[in-house]
Amino acid sequence: MSGNWKMNHTHFEAIQFVQALAALVRSRPWRPGRVVSVHPPFTSLRSVQTAIESDDIPVRLGAQNCHEAPNGAFTGEVSAGMLAKLNVSYVIVGHSERRQLFGEDDLTVRAKLDAVVKNGMTAILCVGETLEERRAGGEKEKVASQLQSALADRPAAVVSGVVVAYEPIWAIGTGETATAKDAQEMAAHIRGEISRLAGDEAAGQVTLQYGGSVKPDNAGELLRCRDVDGLLVGGASLEATSFYEIAQAR
Ligand code: PGA
Repeated sequence: MSGNWKMNHTHFEAIQFVQALAALVRSRPWRPGRVVSVHPPFTSLRSVQTAIESDDIPVRLGAQNCHEAPNGAFTGEVSAGMLAKLNVSYVIVGHSERRQLFGEDDLTVRAKLDAVVKNGMTAILCVGETLEERRAGGEKEKVASQLQSALADRPAAVVSGVVVAYEPIWAIGTGETATAKDAQEMAAHIRGEISRLAGDEAAGQVTLQYGGSVKPDNAGELLRCRDVDGLLVGGASLEATSFYEIAQAR
């Protein structure tokens, strides 16, 4: 269960959020086996890391992006190695906002995934179709091609360790959620594609998230889909109580 804060919260607000979340988890711990991550902006990573580690809060640290190169003249960028040093566990790669607003193509997304894995972290690979693509009946093909370019020709052990987040672009920040039926159908399709690319075992082990206008009142229904293992939450992850409720849904 991952909370993508996008460009929200100063580092002061981030610390307050983590403390509020910690109080909720202390009163009722996460369900067994549930892994919860928060993905603040880069400026808050160190503060959140310190808060989590000093109070032993059961929340993993995540980032929203990284650069694919290990270092160099890339003004304004942050490498995967820098994130790993902050004990970041999860890095989102290929979020649709990165693809659409910052021109990230499939090759770049693949290179970022490489960098994340090489630095011992888990990549959350985002895939998903636009409204036009869905209307034209091309959503499965689109997702298959994104999976193919990011995951083809990799060892099964690498593929099985990736988290794939299905985020239909028309559902992001719009208040419009995919139905549980659509989410399940696409999740099953993703597992099928992964099986084709890396074998049945990897397909069984890979973690699949749904994302796109997840809220406390629809989280349970989405999570009950057979092939949906977790949720990637944007807007509703900005407030500790609503994120906690989502992360505890079943
Ligand atoms: P949303 O964002 O929950 O605000 O729709 C999801 C995401 O972009 O990961």
